[in-house]
Amino acid sequence: MAQDTTGHLLAQAYSPANFRALGHQLIDLLADHLEKAHDPGNQQLINYRDPEDELKFWQNDFAHAGQEGSALRFFEDILDHSIHLHHPHYIGHQVSVPAPINALAGMVSDILSNGTGVYEMGMASNALERVVTDFTAQKIGYPATASGFITSGGTLANLTALLAARAAKAPQQVWTKGHGEKLAIMVSEEAHYCVDRAARILGMGSEGIIKIPVDKQFKIRTDLLESYYQKAVVDGLTPIALIGCAGSTATGSYDDLGTLADFCEKHHLWYHVDGAHGAAVAFSEKYKHLAAGMERADTIVLDYHKMLMAPALNTALLFKEGHRSYETFIQRAQYLWEAEQSPEWYHSGKRTFECTKLMLSIKVYATLRCYGASIFGKNVDQLYDQAQAFAQILHLAPDFELAVVPEANIVNFRYTGLPREQWDIKNGQIRQRLVESGSFYIVQTVINGERWLRSTVMNPFTNQQHFEKLLDNIRSIAPTLD
Ligand SMILES: Cc1ncc(COP(=O)(O)O)c(C=O)c1O
Repeated sequence: MAQDTTGHLLAQAYSPANFRALGHQLIDLLADHLEKAHDPGNQQLINYRDPEDELKFWQNDFAHAGQEGSALRFFEDILDHSIHLHHPHYIGHQVSVPAPINALAGMVSDILSNGTGVYEMGMASNALERVVTDFTAQKIGYPATASGFITSGGTLANLTALLAARAAKAPQQVWTKGHGEKLAIMVSEEAHYCVDRAARILGMGSEGIIKIPVDKQFKIRTDLLESYYQKAVVDGLTPIALIGCAGSTATGSYDDLGTLADFCEKHHLWYHVDGAHGAAVAFSEKYKHLAAGMERADTIVLDYHKMLMAPALNTALLFKEGHRSYETFIQRAQYLWEAEQSPEWYHSGKRTFECTKLMLSIKVYATLRCYGASIFGKNVDQLYDQAQAFAQILHLAPDFELAVVPEANIVNFRYTGLPREQWDIKNGQIRQRLVESGSFYIVQTVINGERWLRSTVMNPFTNQQHFEKLLDNIRSIAPTLD
């Protein structure tokens, strides 16, 4: 094929017949892959290889680029060389186990490649985005004036929210006049690092990130807010925003969001809730109480790709007062739209960091369209319920310790059937062995200076037998460590 004429090669690359044939094979391959993940005989969710070996494999593969018949083989190799989130032993990072409908929707979006930033380049996707974000805002309990958009991940959404806070609250308009006052934000010391990063990008520096300590449940100490605020003012800072966690990354703890709202009202601060992980409880009758008060926030970030069955990245940024969302980026782009400030929801790019943007809404919409509006709540309930069950198993196990009773689906624990001084190092080694064996995927974190094993129940089919098996695996690894 590589030696053929250019025209023929391009015709092959765009051939509907080739696409049809390979597409059917690929769907079969992926369906088999999903079936295998649920086969109790399959205990392997990753064929772990060292990074250098992995690189060599693909360098060698690349030497065969363009050879006949290589496409399906390539997809098989990708599966063999990737971690399998659909396996119920995947209890690691907070990345959703995508409902397969997303993959089909993704195929449609990748063929269309509608850029979405301007209306004509994404008629359907802009309208779907409006439907999906309106629905999400309604579930959160926002008023009808709320409005939002979808953007590429929680990190970018948090940055965008803080830019909106700055546009709304900084005494000098930084967007047009540059920096005036020394601006600051207040945030829990347990917040995701992307909030810290966003504040630095905004030029606040270390001084402008006021980290408030947390209590034993890893929730922001609301009793300290006033003194930290007053000290910041005395130090010459201008706090513009307070960020609440719905839930925090390490432990999934929900801040007291109502009290944070009161504080923001008192001091006229922008109230932002980072609900990248846990704002999804808005869809659950059983767990929405955890985020009570969230509906008072000026902005909320919610990742569809964490709790809501969508593949990464797919994030809503919602504004309680929708018109505010048009004030973040006020720029002329004559070739895209005429009026820079007018609230045209159908030009997604007016409100997002991205110019060209993936058709993100199609995936979230497809899941709701196929399975109904209750599907998200059911997923949240299942994941949070299973985390409670896992915590209970740990609580009853004499040789394990639970870090904190989980509010969300994040469960931190450690193996304690070893001399105390070995807990830190050996728990790290246990995790490494588990991953390298391919039998389970969990991660780790540091809480109060000590290492803990961290698991997040993301797969709705992970059940108590899997948790028991994980503990048994850990018990059998521990004595074999040096
Ligand atoms: C609370 C919280 N905020 C923000 C992020 C970053 O989100 P993303 O990975 O979508 O950029 C995470 C990621 O885990 C998170 O847990």
